[in-house]
Amino acid sequence: MDMSRRPRRLRRDGVRPLVRETDLAASDLIAPVFVDATTDERVPIETMPGHERVPVEEAVARVEEIRETGVEAVILFGVPESKDPEGSRAWAEDGVVQEATRRITAETDAYVVTDVCLCEYTDHGHCGVLEADAESDPRLTVRNDETLELLGRTAASHARAGADMVAPSGMMDGMVGAIRESLDGDGFTDVPIMSYAAKYESAFYGPFRDAADGAPAFGDRRHYQMDPANAREARREVDLDVEQGADVLMVKPALPYLDVVRQVREDHDHPVAAYNVSGEYAMLHAAAEKGWLNLEAVAYESLLSIKRAGADLILTYFAEDVADRL
Ligand code: PBG
Repeated sequence: MDMSRRPRRLRRDGVRPLVRETDLAASDLIAPVFVDATTDERVPIETMPGHERVPVEEAVARVEEIRETGVEAVILFGVPESKDPEGSRAWAEDGVVQEATRRITAETDAYVVTDVCLCEYTDHGHCGVLEADAESDPRLTVRNDETLELLGRTAASHARAGADMVAPSGMMDGMVGAIRESLDGDGFTDVPIMSYAAKYESAFYGPFRDAADGAPAFGDRRHYQMDPANAREARREVDLDVEQGADVLMVKPALPYLDVVRQVREDHDHPVAAYNVSGEYAMLHAAAEKGWLNLEAVAYESLLSIKRAGADLILTYFAEDVADRL
């Protein structure tokens, strides 16, 4: 055996940092924030330890807490005061995300991304306008093309409130193009779109649906979100969003889909984002609580691995904790 090759030479303390291929920085991270119009107090989210739904009045304070850790970007999710079949509170000028965005952008230097979707705003919990018989016929769900106009309206209302970037997550065909057109028509040509480009129909969203009160009242999202079995299809999905003008391409969830993250990285020069979702966060917390994993270590390793796979930015509930220690 030729013992002249010894990889361990580069694993000594002085040289390890010099040959490190991947770095994690607070500037890579986006912290999710839940703003809730139904409460005037902060409400802890049981399935996501350390996270809470905050009233609009607390949104600025919440964002300042995040910025103290070095994380400068947030993504806002809203829980509206009321819901209806169309989700009209999603594009209300005085909606919960619009109000929070106005305050945060006026009072802080945070970079504000808004999630553009209807599922938290519709009384049936689906991500768009329903087909007439959707409730009784499991083959039917959301009307794609009618939903596009509502997503365009919602994105423009977020931009008018001051959103720096919008992030459509509904997986409607044509959503990026419709939103681009709506933003440009309103003069917001400089507001970028981070598309949830390859978003899978994942069981890892469970805790989020509790947090944002956005679980579908019947059925599931398999008719619009992607089948977890498909990676080649992600290529076609992501290409379409690129053609429609997406500025940042997101893969979601992150850890179970690192092959897709890598694939998008290799196929496109655009910045790639990965969403380290609620279930990925909750399972590490649950194991740590039992004493089975070291939370700090597995959180850091998870985010580092997502970057190594090819993500430039990560949306993660670990943002504050990890940034604090970087
Ligand atoms: C809304 C949306 C969801 C998530 C982000 N935006 C839920 C869903 O699609 O059901 C999930 C985020 C998470 O689990 O952390 N469409």
